[in-house]
Amino acid sequence: MFENPSDIQPEKINLEQLKPKRETIKKVPIDDHYSENKELLIMLRNLSKTYKTKGGLVEALTDTNLVIYKGDILYIMGPSGSGKTTLLRLISGLELASKGEIFILEENFSKWDDTKRAIFRRDNMGIVAQHGNLNPFLTISENLILKKIYQGNKLTDTIEQNQSILNLFVDLQIKERFQAYPLEISGGELQRASLAIAINESPKILLLDEPTANLDSDLAKHVVNLIFEKCKTLGLTALISTHDLNILKEGVRLIELSDGQIIKNSYIAKA
Ligand SMILES: Nc1ncnc2c1ncn2[C@@H]1O[C@H](COP(=O)(O)OP(=O)(O)OP(=O)(O)O)[C@@H](O)[C@H]1O
Ligand SMILES: [Mg+2]
Repeated sequence: MFENPSDIQPEKINLEQLKPKRETIKKVPIDDHYSENKELLIMLRNLSKTYKTKGGLVEALTDTNLVIYKGDILYIMGPSGSGKTTLLRLISGLELASKGEIFILEENFSKWDDTKRAIFRRDNMGIVAQHGNLNPFLTISENLILKKIYQGNKLTDTIEQNQSILNLFVDLQIKERFQAYPLEISGGELQRASLAIAINESPKILLLDEPTANLDSDLAKHVVNLIFEKCKTLGLTALISTHDLNILKEGVRLIELSDGQIIKNSYIAKA
């Protein structure tokens, strides 16, 4: 018979101790003043997306109208299946809308052909996809230089010689893993590697689909601070889908989707 050891008993804690402390957020509907002195970057007009599946039609996004200004940090929230990923994929041009239009920098993005959209995406967007978007046959460091190669640039220095990339990888705590393949690293490391690659060249538009979903809360906050710093110092615009209320900050915009429709469009006022 085994003795019941008393030294490895689970410790009793209260559920309240585990719950994140929620900051009280004052939400204010977007009003005329919000757009004052702001430059329009992205506009969605009556945007809808219906997927055709074997089981029938799935309406993922319905008649969506949204205006995004240069420098906005916009959180997209809403339950699973509400259309967050669909919205980001439509804006990236990786998915085509069934109806409606997307204007980016006053150009009708939805009318462009695939090649023009792909070039625009390559040169202006940094993307973190929900289920990963790195090439699994290339190492993290090779994935990092892929964009440069597609742009036809000659690589003059190795990653080891590029201090700003090294700093970013150190900051995101993945420097030790950059010779690894995407499938050899953990989910959280993969997310940080994808983010480093997405923000490395400071693209005008960051489309980040649940970029902190696999991170513990301290690392998630650190990652979000880094995104904020990049956006604020370089005037980048970020669209971030998330379920995590803890990464919200004052001054950002927040839209909420429900069944493919925007049910809330607000910004978090400074206290
Ligand atoms: N490629 C697809 N083919 C068919 N249906 C799809 C496809 N992608 C998404 N959907 C459906 O569209 C709806 C919206 O999905 P979407 O992935 O945009 O939701 P989400 O808000 O990102 O959810 P989650 O929080 O789980 O990531 C869901 O009903 C989903 O099943
Ligand atoms: Mg999603």
